[in-house]
Amino acid sequence: MEKSRGLTLKIEGMSTPCCAEEVKEALLKVKGVKKASTCPKRGIAEIEIETDEVTDKQLIKVVEEAGFKAKVKEEGEEGELQALMKKFEREFEKLAQKYNIPQKEIKEHWNLVKKEAAEVYQRCCDWSLRHGIEIKDAEAYCQSAILTGIGKLSWSEEVFKVKEKIKEMTNEEIKNLIASRYGNFAAKYAFEGNACPIRKKQVKELYNEEELSLIPKTALNLALGCGNPVSFADLKPGEVVVDFGCGAGIDLILAAHKVGPKGRVIGVDLTPQMIEKEGQSETEAGFSAERIEEHVGDIEKLDLPDSFADVVTSNCVIILTPNKEAAYREAFRILKPGGRLAISDMVFSEKIHPEIKGRFQSIWAGVVGGAIAEKDYLEIVEQADFGQIKIVKRHFLTPEELFAMSTCPGTEFVPSPDPKDLEAVQGKVVSIKFTAVKPFISQETG
Ligand SMILES: C[S@@+](CC[C@H](N)C(=O)[O-])C[C@H]1O[C@@H](n2cnc3c(N)ncnc32)[C@H](O)[C@@H]1O
Repeated sequence: MEKSRGLTLKIEGMSTPCCAEEVKEALLKVKGVKKASTCPKRGIAEIEIETDEVTDKQLIKVVEEAGFKAKVKEEGEEGELQALMKKFEREFEKLAQKYNIPQKEIKEHWNLVKKEAAEVYQRCCDWSLRHGIEIKDAEAYCQSAILTGIGKLSWSEEVFKVKEKIKEMTNEEIKNLIASRYGNFAAKYAFEGNACPIRKKQVKELYNEEELSLIPKTALNLALGCGNPVSFADLKPGEVVVDFGCGAGIDLILAAHKVGPKGRVIGVDLTPQMIEKEGQSETEAGFSAERIEEHVGDIEKLDLPDSFADVVTSNCVIILTPNKEAAYREAFRILKPGGRLAISDMVFSEKIHPEIKGRFQSIWAGVVGGAIAEKDYLEIVEQADFGQIKIVKRHFLTPEELFAMSTCPGTEFVPSPDPKDLEAVQGKVVSIKFTAVKPFISQETG
C-alpha cells in the first residue's frame, strides 16, 4: 500500500478566495496529490500526498507556475491563527485552574473545540467585515465564544445570524458602506491592481486592444465594471457625456477620446478616493485637468443642471444604489430631449426567493446585493419615462464571476455570501447592456 504524507506550504500573494481556488486547482492536478485545501487568511495550502514520487519541490514549482511564491512551512512556524490558538489554549488552561477542572479534561475539551475554533475564527473575520468592525474586535467575540467553553460553530452561527437578521440597513447606511468599501479598494490597489485574477481577466476582456492602449494604468488597475458602455453609446464628437459611478475613470477616458476636445465629459462618484484616482488617470492619459470634469456626488441626487447632456453612461453602478428609481429619474432630468442611455449593469434573470435575496441584501454583497429581476429593473427605466429600450447583450455569470461580483470590490472589503445562497442563484445572475432614449416629448407633458 502507498504511504501518504501531509505537507503544509506557506504561500505568498494568495490573498483572496479566487487565488486560493487557483492554487488548490493547480495542486490537485498533480498526480499523487490526494487532497489539497487552501486558506487565503492564513496564507497556507495543506496537502495530502499519496505517493513518494511527489516531491515538495515539485509542488512548490506548481504553485509558482500558478503565479505565487511558496515554501514548506516549518514546524512551529506560527501564522496569525496558530498564534491566536496558542493564546486561547493558555486561557483554557487558566480556566482549568480557576475552576479546578482536571488538566486532562480541559485538554480533551480543547482538542474538540480546536477544529471548530478555526472555523469560528474564520466566521468572526467574515462577520467583522459585514459589520465594518476591526478584526481585533471580532477576535474578542471569537475569544469569548471559545472561552465560554461552548466552542460550537452552531453557537457562533446563532449569535452572528441573529445579529445579521436584525441588521436591515437604511439607504444612508448602504451608501456609507459602499463609499467605505470602494474608498479602501481605491487606496489599496491603485498601484498594484485588483488582487482578484478573475476580476482582472474579466475587465480586460471587456475592452479591445485599441481601447486598452488608451486606458492609463490607474484606471485599469481600479476598473470594476461589467461591460464597456462607451463601445455601444455611439458617441459623436462634441457631445456631452455624464458617467454615473465613474470609479477611477476607465470609461471617462474612452468617452473623452470619442467626443474629442469640443465635447464635454463628466464623471460622478460617491467615493472621494475614486474621484481622486480619476484625476490621476486623467493626468496619466495626457489630458489636461479641464478635459474631464469630476464630481463627488450621489447619482440619486445630482448637482447638475436639467437637460444639458447628450448621453448618460454607467458601468456596474446603478445596481449598487438602493434607490434605482431616483437614479434613473436623475438621468432623465439631466439628459436633453433625444438624449441616450448606454448602461451596463447586473440583474437577476428571474425573481429570486425573498429570503435568499434578503441575505444578499443584508450584507449588500458586492454588485449582487442590490440586484433585482431584469423585468423589474427595466420597468424602473420605463417608469422614468425612457423609451426605445434595446438590450445590446446579456452575459450569464460563470460561478467564478458570480463569486467575484458578489464580493466586489474584493473579499478583503466585502463578506462572502453563504455558498448555498451563491449556488441557489447560479445561472440567474446576468450582466446586461442596454440603450434607451429620452423622448423629445415626455409622456408626462405629451
Ligand atoms: C463596481 S464600481 C464601477 C466603477 C466604474 N464604473 C468602473 O467600471 O470601473 C461602482 C462604483 O460606483 C460608485 N457608486 C456606488 N453608488 C453610487 C452612488 N449612489 N452615486 C455615485 N456613485 C456610486 C462606487 O463608489 C464605485 O466607484
